[in-house]
Amino acid sequence: SSAFTFSEAVLNWYHQNGRKDLPWQQNITPYRVWVSEIMLQQTQVTTVIPYYERFMARFPDVQSLAAAEQDEVLHLWTGLGYYARGRNLHACAQKVVNDYNSQFPESVDQLASLPGIGRSTAAAIASISMGINAPILDGNVKRVLTRFLAIEGWPGETRVQNQLWEIAEQLTPDHSSREYTQAMMDLGATLCTRSKPACGICPLQPQCAGLQTGKPTQFPNSKPK
Ligand code: ADE
Repeated sequence: SSAFTFSEAVLNWYHQNGRKDLPWQQNITPYRVWVSEIMLQQTQVTTVIPYYERFMARFPDVQSLAAAEQDEVLHLWTGLGYYARGRNLHACAQKVVNDYNSQFPESVDQLASLPGIGRSTAAAIASISMGINAPILDGNVKRVLTRFLAIEGWPGETRVQNQLWEIAEQLTPDHSSREYTQAMMDLGATLCTRSKPACGICPLQPQCAGLQTGKPTQFPNSKPK
């Protein structure tokens, strides 16, 4: 019966330290959050911001994106890299317009069936823009969880991956979906970094099993040779 609960520590930290003024955190809609999550998949926040602003100015809604030529979409993507993301974004917009009456479907499973949207991205869109309490498990969150619980094994392995989804689900609170999802991403991106994590100022430090091993950066374990 410790006073510490994982989600409370994470949420308190977010309320005091999290970023709440990013462009996609203003006037939140499924469309705006979806575009931001796709751009942020392999690209840092500071790089994404100007691309996101240009993209939203040209394509303010899913209909305008669906109606565009693919070349124009890819032109606005130039410099972000991973061009499959841009092509999938366009294909996804057309599917939402044609199959879903221009409204993003409001379930994680349906979102995950759309082009370019995996299970974790679907959960991020659902939790941030729809108030659905769904666990996420992107690279940042895998790092936080494997360290916090000192989980052995390479997360690319199905067994470890399944274990991590189960843990993510157990730790996700049944309220504050938007804040908790954003908090876990920010914690992984800013404190619980791949090298030189800032354990000294981490809200999870008192209970972190990875830190207690003396070598938190051994988690997540790397791919076996
Ligand atoms: N990476 C993916 N989604 C993100 C988000 N919403 N905030 C920060 N980093 C992210």
